Amino acid sequence: MGALEGKVAVITGAGRGIGREHALLFAREGAAVVVNDLGGDNTGTGADTGPAQEVVDEITAAGGRAVADTGDIATWEGAKNLVDLAVSEFGRLDVVVNNAGILRDGFIAGLEESQWDAVIAVHLKGHFNVLRHAASYWKDQAKAGNRPNAAVVNTASASGVTVPNAGQANYGAAKAAIAALTLVAADELERYGVRVNAIAPMARTRLTLATPGMGAIFAAEVPEGEFDAFSPANISPLVAYLAGDKCAITGKVFAVQGGAISELAGWHDVKTIETEGPWLIDDIAARLP
Ligand SMILES: NC(=O)c1ccc[n+]([C@@H]2O[C@H](COP(=O)([O-])OP(=O)(O)OC[C@H]3O[C@@H](n4cnc5c(N)ncnc54)[C@H](O)[C@@H]3O)[C@@H](O)[C@H]2O)c1
Repeated sequence: MGALEGKVAVITGAGRGIGREHALLFAREGAAVVVNDLGGDNTGTGADTGPAQEVVDEITAAGGRAVADTGDIATWEGAKNLVDLAVSEFGRLDVVVNNAGILRDGFIAGLEESQWDAVIAVHLKGHFNVLRHAASYWKDQAKAGNRPNAAVVNTASASGVTVPNAGQANYGAAKAAIAALTLVAADELERYGVRVNAIAPMARTRLTLATPGMGAIFAAEVPEGEFDAFSPANISPLVAYLAGDKCAITGKVFAVQGGAISELAGWHDVKTIETEGPWLIDDIAARLP
């Protein structure tokens, strides 16, 4: 029996890259999958129903259950339709994997408003949109006496949580906010039976192949028979574990690449200075160098 037998999962951006690997593994593990993908280019421009449908065809050809959704998760309605489709097609919703993403890199001094808005819209608002409509569904289920055993897996990035990346102010800010959103959502949704975690993956996809300085490393040939440490397929087993009933973890962020999974920890006090009364600026200067 598969680790996700009987589960219904929505996976955003599942037409390509890491999300595609999640969808294929989830289906092999017994989940019915709603394969969402808008099908645009790296920057989120354009749309194409092909990528989502191809993944659905691959899953169904192998005997699995899947349906395509080619809506835009950056919109409130697109996210609502996606959640509704899982319920109308498969009768329930157990798992949301928020994964869809784009890049519009640029240094802050020259960043266009459209570059900022598009990246925040797809990553941060896109994560929230799907989370919001799924949470509302799960809340209704819990209130009706059908307490869910559900999970959300969000997609952060090293660029937002461990390695500040010049040229990615929009992307890094969105990804850091997704880590924060994950912790708040874990706290809020526990009452309905929903666990919420995030990953910060690293793998060879069209996004990393197009990133200056990374493309060459990721594109390097892997000799036949050797472990491909940059394969996007390396990311999905952790996501399947976090989505399944064997997992009790909630409110965590994990870095994952190749054969390594690291639990990350966020902002915390490293030093505290105190005063009895109001601070003098010079006091602060002397004690907080
Ligand atoms: N590849 C890496 O090393 C890496 C590192 C850190 C984080 N990530 C994150 O992993 C996720 C997957 O990225 P990937 O590398 O597989 O890239 P990818 O471009 O191969 O896949 C992303 C998919 O999301 C889809 N998408 C984009 N905007 C959408 C929207 N508004 N609605 C629906 N679908 C949309 C795209 O069409 C695409 O198929 C992203 O959130 C990315 O930021 C990837």
